[in-house]
Amino acid sequence: MYKEVKTAEALGYLATKPTMIITTLHESKVVNAGVFGAYTNLSATHVGIAIAASHHTYANILRGGEFVINVPGANLVKKIAILASPIPKDKSEVDEAGLTTKAGITIETPSIAECVASVECKFDKELPIGVHSFVVGVACGGWIKEEFLDTDGKIDIFKARVIKDFKYPQPLYVLPGEVVHG
Ligand SMILES: Cc1cc2nc3c(=O)[nH]c(=O)nc-3n(C[C@H](O)[C@H](O)[C@H](O)COP(=O)(O)O)c2cc1C
Repeated sequence: MYKEVKTAEALGYLATKPTMIITTLHESKVVNAGVFGAYTNLSATHVGIAIAASHHTYANILRGGEFVINVPGANLVKKIAILASPIPKDKSEVDEAGLTTKAGITIETPSIAECVASVECKFDKELPIGVHSFVVGVACGGWIKEEFLDTDGKIDIFKARVIKDFKYPQPLYVLPGEVVHG
C-alpha cells in the first residue's frame, strides 16, 4: 500500500541521502529517468541537486517546472545502470529498465512504482556551477510504501535497504549499517 504524505514527511525520506532516481517529462510526455547522488536537503521544504546542464533531466526541469525524486531500494541496483545510460528522448528509461510508473499526486510527472518512496517537487531556482547547475526544488507531496515506515512514522532505512553510491562511477553501493545512540 502506498501512503500519501505531506511535504516535510516526504523530504525526510532523503535524510540518509540514498542514491536517487529523478523522473521528469520530455516535451512529448515520455517519462525520463536519471540517477543522482550530488544532492542535499536544504530546509524542511527545499532540496538542491547538482545536475549536468547536458542532461535531459536538467532541460525537462527547466521547461516543465517539476520533477520527482524516487528513492530506490537495493533490489533495484541492477536497474540503475540502465536508468543512468543515455537513452534517446523518444524512449523512456523507465520502460527500458522494465520498471513501471505511478501517476503523480500533486504534479503531472509520475513516480516509479517499484521504489520505496517518492518526493514530488516544483522547480524554484538554479545556480550555475561549471558544467553543472545547482537546481533547487520545493517539495509539494509524495508517498511511501507503508511496509517501509518505522514506529515513529519515518522511513525505515534498514527495511527499505536504501543504497548510497560508494565508488562512483564504479557500480558499487553501500547499505546503511547500524544506529549509534548519542
Ligand atoms: C550513482 C550515480 C550517481 C550520479 N549522480 C549524478 C549527479 O549527482 N549529477 C549528475 O549530473 N549526474 C549524475 N549521474 C549521471 C547521470 O545519472 C547520467 O548521466 C544520466 O544519463 C542522466 O540522465 P538524463 O540525461 O536522462 O538526465 C550519476 C550516475 C550514477 C550511476
